[in-house]
Amino acid sequence: MGALFVMALARKLQLVVLATIVAAVAVVAVVFLLYPPVVTRQSLVALGTLLALGLFSTLLDFRITESGTTTSVDFIPLLGAILLIGPAFALVVTVVLFVFRHTILHKKPAYKWLFNTSQRLLAVSAASFFFVWFGGVPSLESLDFRQSFPPFLLAVVAYFVVNACAVVYVISVSEEKPFSTIWRKVAGHLIVFDVAISPLAYMVALFYVLWGSATVLLAILPLIGLRYSYGVNVELQQLNHDLLRVLVKTIEGRDAYTSGHSLRVAERSRRIAEHMELSHKLVRLIETGALLHDIGKIDMAYSEILRQAGPLTPLQRDLIRAHPDKGVEIVSNVRSIDKKILECIQHHHEWYDGSGYPAGLSQTDIPIGARIIMVADSIDAMATDRPYRAALSSEDIRRELLENRGTQFDADVVRVALAGGILDDQEDKLNKSVKETRNQLMVKPMRKVGVH
Ligand SMILES: [Fe+2]
Repeated sequence: MGALFVMALARKLQLVVLATIVAAVAVVAVVFLLYPPVVTRQSLVALGTLLALGLFSTLLDFRITESGTTTSVDFIPLLGAILLIGPAFALVVTVVLFVFRHTILHKKPAYKWLFNTSQRLLAVSAASFFFVWFGGVPSLESLDFRQSFPPFLLAVVAYFVVNACAVVYVISVSEEKPFSTIWRKVAGHLIVFDVAISPLAYMVALFYVLWGSATVLLAILPLIGLRYSYGVNVELQQLNHDLLRVLVKTIEGRDAYTSGHSLRVAERSRRIAEHMELSHKLVRLIETGALLHDIGKIDMAYSEILRQAGPLTPLQRDLIRAHPDKGVEIVSNVRSIDKKILECIQHHHEWYDGSGYPAGLSQTDIPIGARIIMVADSIDAMATDRPYRAALSSEDIRRELLENRGTQFDADVVRVALAGGILDDQEDKLNKSVKETRNQLMVKPMRKVGVH
């Protein structure tokens, strides 16, 4: 049954790839018939210049999302080609650049580069149709702003919509996830970034018309600037994230019972949030909130309580109930901290029925991140040895989660956590992830502290 399903899926993927290639060939034929290339010395020089610019932009390929999706500024020569030398030449530029990029540069298998090149040919064709239909006239001699800019903008939109739809559709088929989920995850922020820098393509065409081919290479300067600033930004974000993990790991490393706890809770929370199909940004905020959820326990007084086998005194209970507020107080010192992260820290001990602390919020009044962390935190607490009991089995944890739905836990979060296999594969994956972080950051685990 499983094998049959995999075969059916592979077959569906093959069909999608094949349909895209066939559609691209048909559309390219139509473009060449309707708008045949005008081959002159000038148009060939322009073609060469745009190819040079395109190869350079391709080499600037960079990653702008943490989900690993690669975007590129290589659409700039493609759109520039539509403005200057027309749809047919724009398709020639597309084929040369994409075949170079996917075969020579990235050495992708045939079906991948054929699909990628085909979907990009479809996007460039759609952009060309919109440009010409709405009054745009490709020209190397003049570029009238009022006549050409509105159709150029429509062409930009057509290009990105076709491109994003094709990519999102094929990912949704291969990952067996709804189109809308992948769209939110992948397309949203990519389109914003791409559309924001698309006027660069217009600038390239304008430079060419006004001052000739050599000045087009000036467009390389803002491209390098963009590449650099974006690269730095992503690296800084990653560094912040890594530093935060080191900090939390180091704080928790002093106590065997909390060692690795927040990293595991963060990993589980992230996976539950992803299964709940929350936006990429919210998933990241919840992951960070989960990483910091117990930062209020930084005081040594808390490790004594954690190691204590007997019941807590009223004073100790008050101290425990104060840790979310203490956490928020500490983290609030970071000026740029997102409010949603603070909410996660503040409310991760609220119960769904309103009997938790510190605010006694109930149901959906509790922020979604805090409801997720409550489940992830409890799973981790149950799955680790404590001074007063051994770790529970996966079956026992599952039963506890189900029994406490609607009282301690949000039933939806529990359902997603159980359906998403958060319990089943937790051991291997989480331990691997924590070990990787430890190796990566060279933080050595502390030896187990004796229980007094
Ligand atoms: Fe806590």
